[in-house]
Amino acid sequence: MSDPNTSQLDASAAAHAEALHGSRWKRRALLAATLAAFSALACAQNVNPDETGHEPVGTRAALQKARPVTARHAMVVSAQHLATMVGVDILKRGGNAVDAAVAVGFAEAVVHPCCGNIGGGGFMTIHLKDGRNLFLDFREKAPAKATPTMFQDADGNVVEGRSTDSYLGVGVPGTVMGFDTALKRYGTMSLQQLIAPAIKLARDGYVLEQGDVDSLDSSTGAFAKHANVAAIFLDHGKPFKVGERLVQKDLARTLELIAKGGTKAFYGGPIARAVVKGSDANGGILSLRDFAGYTAQWEKPIQCEYHGYTVVSAPPPSSGGTTLCLILQIIKPYPLAKWGYGSVDSVHYLVEAERRAFADRNTYLGDPAFVHNPIDTLLSDAHAAKLRATIKQDQATPSSEVQGSLGAPEGNHTTHYSVVDKDGNAVAVTYTVNFLFGNKQIAGDTGFFLNDEMDDFTGKPGVANGAGLVQGVINRVEPGKRPLSSMTPTIVLRDGKPFMLTGSPGSATIISSTLGSFLNVVEFGMNMQQAVNAPRLHQQWYPDVVYAGQGLLTPESQQALEAMGYRFKPFSGGAVEAILFNPKTGLLEGAHDPRRPAGLAAGY
Ligand code: GLY
Repeated sequence: MSDPNTSQLDASAAAHAEALHGSRWKRRALLAATLAAFSALACAQNVNPDETGHEPVGTRAALQKARPVTARHAMVVSAQHLATMVGVDILKRGGNAVDAAVAVGFAEAVVHPCCGNIGGGGFMTIHLKDGRNLFLDFREKAPAKATPTMFQDADGNVVEGRSTDSYLGVGVPGTVMGFDTALKRYGTMSLQQLIAPAIKLARDGYVLEQGDVDSLDSSTGAFAKHANVAAIFLDHGKPFKVGERLVQKDLARTLELIAKGGTKAFYGGPIARAVVKGSDANGGILSLRDFAGYTAQWEKPIQCEYHGYTVVSAPPPSSGGTTLCLILQIIKPYPLAKWGYGSVDSVHYLVEAERRAFADRNTYLGDPAFVHNPIDTLLSDAHAAKLRATIKQDQATPSSEVQGSLGAPEGNHTTHYSVVDKDGNAVAVTYTVNFLFGNKQIAGDTGFFLNDEMDDFTGKPGVANGAGLVQGVINRVEPGKRPLSSMTPTIVLRDGKPFMLTGSPGSATIISSTLGSFLNVVEFGMNMQQAVNAPRLHQQWYPDVVYAGQGLLTPESQQALEAMGYRFKPFSGGAVEAILFNPKTGLLEGAHDPRRPAGLAAGY
């Protein structure tokens, strides 16, 4: 099917690729872009919302025209426009990227309550202007009374909903400790200054736009179950409408306590007491001691090389960086740019690389404070070569034939945002309450949703969790342990300088969404916005199915891949919020993901 706008995309992609990689890549990019235009765009209509409730990505014309927001000095991209503007304001007032990241994080707890949070946890990847790469782990921890079988009944069956809808699913929240830890070491402004915009948004309220209402609407039934939740997130029992104002006075008070009392207020004061009281009253196991013992910690980020790019990302207890790097290691020798985005060959080899990387992820990774993670082996050239050798040239490998490849182990909801300041400091944050609005409960009058992060553990080896991940004993529940995450806040460097910030929500699809945003630029010649918007591909070992965004494949490609043994399911993937440093223009290019329409890329 021909496309009148193909040449426009070709030219822009080729120019873009040339700027990024030099003329050596121009021919590859032209070819890739041509194939991409055919396979990705030629037959795409409006992309339907998938089961995750994401909005359409856009028509083919919209994708072809997609252009990032540009800025000369600094940029913030997040899933909620008011949070983005809070960050831009901090940067304009002289705050650095860490300051802005903390302010955006607190603001999202108010204006993006499904996912932004103080009741959950996450990870922060930092590149400082002096060249240092840092990683902060503020993932939730299992309470001291947690046990490996706590989500099973007496017969050893996993009880549906116990890890997601009850207080047993709540891990000790890490966000407040994480933001304070980052700020104390690398920030320049006070906690009070950075929480102030969030307090104002909670106390005065903010006007809901369509994207905000869509997010709230996903959980109307759940809000109605608890009077203290319904009182805030429903309007006299009815869903809020566009144009109405959401006021969160309880949350404003909680944020004021944190602004005044710092982490003590949250972990050793009235907030911890209120959450533990709520937990006690609802069959939970959280204790004041769990809160008092919570720590955030600095870790060495995962790093890997891919055709001149250095990928800096999340180490365990996230699987994100390791799995991303393992996939990149496997695909490194393949001529993806020549094959093209959405082509039969690139889909085949990407899927097989993801299948093998997820098998290893699910078998060998867990909280490093509890289990050994064989990172060096997993990311070695020899290991990638070994896995590559098992990929059949023209046939899908059934997941049942793929096992964790090192033998026996030793041992949606989330949000991402990216911040760059005028000095070149870069901060990528992914944080989460796990499912949308976490366990959908609020302790007393604290005003914030609690996470259900315990579902990221292995409830029972071999039984899929809420993300559909079939994980092993290495990620079993243990007291004080952090559940294995897929969050992948990533900073890509070129010649030691930031090139791209990327990351996504979406449980296991975080990894493939993040991977896609990177490959779409460096292999397939897309600009940052096209790379974010483009239909995605995901395979996570089990279920043995390939998730493909609508428009990724032509009917012919899909047929050819089905003949090779692949079974496809539609999906949308995560919501990437990315920034690219364009070396040719010297401008920052921000790309907000239209799958979360409330968001915004903005800078100055
Ligand atoms: N809760 C999603 C993740 O951490 O992977």
